[in-house]
Amino acid sequence: MGYTLTILGCGVMGQAVLSAIYNAPVPATTEVAQLYPSKIIACNQDAASAKQVTELIESMENKSPNGIVVDSTFGNNVEAVKQSDVVILGVKPYIAEMVLNEVGPAIHSKLLISIAAGWTIEQLQAYTPTVSRVMTNTPAKFGYGCAVISHSSACNEEQKQTVSELISHVGKCIELPEKNMDAATALVGSGPAFVLLMLEGMMESGIKLGIPLKESLEASLKVLEGTAKMVEETGMHPGALKHQVCTPGGTTIAGLCVMEDNGVKSGIIKGIEEAANVAAKLGKKK
Ligand SMILES: NC(=O)c1ccc[n+]([C@@H]2O[C@H](COP(=O)([O-])OP(=O)(O)OC[C@H]3O[C@@H](n4cnc5c(N)ncnc54)[C@H](OP(=O)(O)O)[C@@H]3O)[C@@H](O)[C@H]2O)c1
Repeated sequence: MGYTLTILGCGVMGQAVLSAIYNAPVPATTEVAQLYPSKIIACNQDAASAKQVTELIESMENKSPNGIVVDSTFGNNVEAVKQSDVVILGVKPYIAEMVLNEVGPAIHSKLLISIAAGWTIEQLQAYTPTVSRVMTNTPAKFGYGCAVISHSSACNEEQKQTVSELISHVGKCIELPEKNMDAATALVGSGPAFVLLMLEGMMESGIKLGIPLKESLEASLKVLEGTAKMVEETGMHPGALKHQVCTPGGTTIAGLCVMEDNGVKSGIIKGIEEAANVAAKLGKKK
């Protein structure tokens, strides 16, 4: 331990990543422990946002298992980057260029971890050669997130390990080539919204059939959670598990046929494809 990590833009996602790193358990070996910062500087633009980060740390009772100290600041990007070895870019994509130009030479030769949608490794390398691109999602705030990571070829093994170790605490961490990032933006970044649409549909079906809202939501939630766990624990193909639930001539196959008839599966595939198309255009706007 001993280096400083700066988060440039510590809003919804920045705070999710901050919480995950801050609350990470003590690693089993000193080699892994060295991958953690001793200090995190959270940078925002306004005093109100900086106060929000301070309150977040206070809500965690200032107790980081790895003894990480957090300094929440605003209007202080250049000085914070100067003090750091690793920088997380957590601002909105359309603000990223302004912030990166502002910190300018201070970021050169530092490890830059970008969570900004659409910003390619090549674009980020205009500021520093060592870049890792991460696409994560809002459940990261609760440790149930997913993160897809791509590294630039300039990153050495220790830098790749640092990124994977820090980001692993958002939940599940998957390394993929950068060509998959637009798809990951749609599947992982936007994914919670698609699942919430499914959850809402199930909940409302319960209500339509006479189950009160609270109980309908509780039941729908448990079905989603339990099914995900069942796929994870059996390692079986979702289609095979689906057919295990289908009694010949029974209720499940009847419901599935109506859903297929209404294009539920192709609607999900086309929706995620469209989100990926928009993600690809985000990168080209710069
Ligand atoms: N939200 C998601 O579901 C999601 C999912 C995947 C990826 N992402 C990516 O995560 C990134 C952040 O999104 P978000 O939802 O966390 O946005 P957000 O909540 O708006 O957070 C962005 C933060 O950046 C700060 N900021 C703005 N201008 C700044 C500046 N000049 N210097 C320093 N900080 C500045 C803002 O602070 P002030 O409030 O003080 O302006 C704000 O706290 C985006 O690039 C997005 O593509 C988001």
